[in-house]
Amino acid sequence: MKVVNLKTLHQRDPLGIGQTPYFSWMMESAERDVIQHSYRLIVSDETKTVWDTGIVESREQSFIEYGGLPLESRRVYTWTVAVRDNKGCEDRAEACFETALLHAEDWKARWVESTIPRENYEWFNYGAQPPPIMFKRDFAVTGMVKKARLYASAYGCYRLYVNNVRPDDREFAPEHTVYRDILYYQTYDVTNLLKNGRNTLSMYVGDGWHLCPQTAPVMENFHNLPAVLYQLEIEYENDRRDIIAADGNERCGTGPVMFSDIFLGEKQDANVPYILDYPVQVRDYGYANLMVQPMPPVRPIKTLPAADTYISPRGEAIVDFGQIVCGRARIKIIAPKGTPITFEYFEVPDKDGNYFNSMIAFQKDIYVSDGEPCEYEAYFTFHGFRYIRVTGMGALNKEDFTAVLLTTEKENAGSFSCSDERLNRLYRNIRWAQANNMMSIPTDCPTREKAGFTGDIQIYVKTAIINENVTPFLSAWLLNLAADQLEDGVVPMTVPFTRLYERLSYNRAAEFGDDRPTGIAGWSDAAVIVPHSMYVMTGNLLILKKHYNTMKRWCDYVIRTAREKRGDKGLPKEIDRYLWNTGFHFGEWLIPSVKEDASHMNCRISAAYTAPIFGYISVSLMSKIAHALQNIQDAAYYSDVAIAMKNAIEESLMKGGKMPEELMGAYVLAIAFDLVPDQYQDAFAHKLVFMLEQNDYRLDTGFLATPYLLDALTKIGRRDLALKVLFQDKPPSWLYQVDKGATAIWENWVAISPDGMPMVTSYDHYAFGCVDEWVFREIAGINSSQPGFRHMVIHPKPDGCLHLCKRSFQSEYGEIAVAWTDDVLKVSIPCNTTATVVWKDCQYEIGSGHYDFK
Ligand code: BGC
Repeated sequence: MKVVNLKTLHQRDPLGIGQTPYFSWMMESAERDVIQHSYRLIVSDETKTVWDTGIVESREQSFIEYGGLPLESRRVYTWTVAVRDNKGCEDRAEACFETALLHAEDWKARWVESTIPRENYEWFNYGAQPPPIMFKRDFAVTGMVKKARLYASAYGCYRLYVNNVRPDDREFAPEHTVYRDILYYQTYDVTNLLKNGRNTLSMYVGDGWHLCPQTAPVMENFHNLPAVLYQLEIEYENDRRDIIAADGNERCGTGPVMFSDIFLGEKQDANVPYILDYPVQVRDYGYANLMVQPMPPVRPIKTLPAADTYISPRGEAIVDFGQIVCGRARIKIIAPKGTPITFEYFEVPDKDGNYFNSMIAFQKDIYVSDGEPCEYEAYFTFHGFRYIRVTGMGALNKEDFTAVLLTTEKENAGSFSCSDERLNRLYRNIRWAQANNMMSIPTDCPTREKAGFTGDIQIYVKTAIINENVTPFLSAWLLNLAADQLEDGVVPMTVPFTRLYERLSYNRAAEFGDDRPTGIAGWSDAAVIVPHSMYVMTGNLLILKKHYNTMKRWCDYVIRTAREKRGDKGLPKEIDRYLWNTGFHFGEWLIPSVKEDASHMNCRISAAYTAPIFGYISVSLMSKIAHALQNIQDAAYYSDVAIAMKNAIEESLMKGGKMPEELMGAYVLAIAFDLVPDQYQDAFAHKLVFMLEQNDYRLDTGFLATPYLLDALTKIGRRDLALKVLFQDKPPSWLYQVDKGATAIWENWVAISPDGMPMVTSYDHYAFGCVDEWVFREIAGINSSQPGFRHMVIHPKPDGCLHLCKRSFQSEYGEIAVAWTDDVLKVSIPCNTTATVVWKDCQYEIGSGHYDFK
């Protein structure tokens, strides 16, 4: 048995951590049935042991929270774990982590801000944005450097250079956060970049999210000028220490990037030098919102060569990468000095292959050549695109174009392939939509809004987890959610809650008679559903502990609103007080048969069931969460309320044996969440089947019901219909998109009409990709029956649709892999887990190891 994969906060030997660490490891063995019997974990600094767990008899091997002496700033800690298994084998392994600046007093640096006047500008004033600002200073290094760390952040997004070299390839630091309360700072190892004598440090700051009008934060005293903070700590070979910190001795000015905006695009003029003729001003912005970056950075994760170039019917020169990507292109350019070349990024062409703006944002970059051959890439903007319209470059050569995927770095956790090529493509599309929408925060789309819509990740979270290790990423986002929760418990429609969506929330609330933003069914519920899903899928109890109050406050808001505000259906008070049935909601959102309208009537229609049902879902999950944390009193309270809510739903929404709206999603949610009383179960099942038949086996569900559609059908014993819907290729359906050439997941089910007309919508929206989680459970047959897959049920059911299926998932314990053909099932489960395998009517209980079932 070997102990492997040691992680601190789910990162390998992280440099610069700030929060209380937790540890995890995995066991590997050639033997079967291996279970961890005990472990001993010791954490030490150079001189002493700071935590020794002693021998702990436990199967826990993940989310082991540090419980030793207080950690100190800028220190390297090593930790060793010695593990003993049930067969008496022992192994140990070692890892380390380094802390960053843990206390506000550690900061010697001052915030320094640009003094270059910045006009207030409007969203659509394309091209008139202020330029990014370069900050620069010289400093001396006086001796042999043993170790140097640089801590830095900015208002805006920065690129850091030490002696004109970037210490790493991260992009868009600091990430999009609730800047008022949380501003990440980054830690760099710059030891090898320093030289004896004169050195320079520069930070080039673009607008990023903070200074962009569309994503600017809700923040009193908003800082509307680019500003930087940095602190370089040098340790010399002779143990002397030196700190070079931002202090006002910098210069600032502009350079070749003439303007940059994350929605509109960027202009670079290679003829323009950096002219740093402005002083900076020192500002007292304090350190209270600074937080060590709690997750890996945004990086160029993948590159893709161009697949094709063509001239459109309108005569436009177009590059096609064959795949929708979030990021930008690297482009080899040789052009006469002064030539402007324009790159307009877009997602889909029109029916005839011409440029088409489906994204609203312009996504237009300009490069002005200095006559030198170069490989050009924009600095401070990113786009969602598959195509680029290029103007000013002459005939295109596809070898000159490479697309770069920019996203937060995450470990791969899943794979899938099967005998159906269209399903394989669907899976790849889902993976791409996920990769393209996880830059810094979980977003709706990388084009039009780039916003942290709470509903979208609520719908998609389980699929996200089975495909990538999103624990650090989502844990970081949840800190932002907690920061953005309003005083009354309301969780906003987006996190970070930006000025744009704050305004929208006030407007929507007013239309529904409220004077402040109200909670939104299925969106705000992310506060409970996201952490709970993380717990179920990875066993992460710490996330429940950490966000217990946030979750409670959200549920209490729902309960209070239901009690205090009467719905408009004239229901008896005893029933109405348990129904969350007032305020603005998005309803199911984007139901194919319900047309959008400006007065949001469509939202009202489906909100009649989504609000009471999602209120019930959150409150009943809250009871389970309280139970998992052994808070018996809370568990009982929320369970009682959930039961009362369920009864109220039965007595109001289901009166007469049908849902208030004859919409597929209404029946789906009622069935999937076991809300249908016995006497109506047949009627509900028949109704759902009837609706599906009437719709020619095409789905008619929106955001909130789609994740449960195939489950509801499976539950009523119609797995055959679930498969029929999955394999359906007439619109609306998943395979229709695939047939229409989608390379990610569309926002609208029929974004491209059967005759090839594209809509103005997003072609890169992960929400409807949630079907992958059903495929994982029902086709690959992998079901967790204890949090984190400690015990699982593996029950694939080959039923003629597929003849081969392979799926893997990197659980907290290690890899779970299932591969089946019509006659053989191969299963492998990691050490420290057990499974019940059901194959061809036989049941087996297995421990870790590889197995073949014939
Ligand atoms: C976004 C969605 C989001 C929705 C809320 C849209 O504009 O793209 O995905 O959840 O608004 O209504």
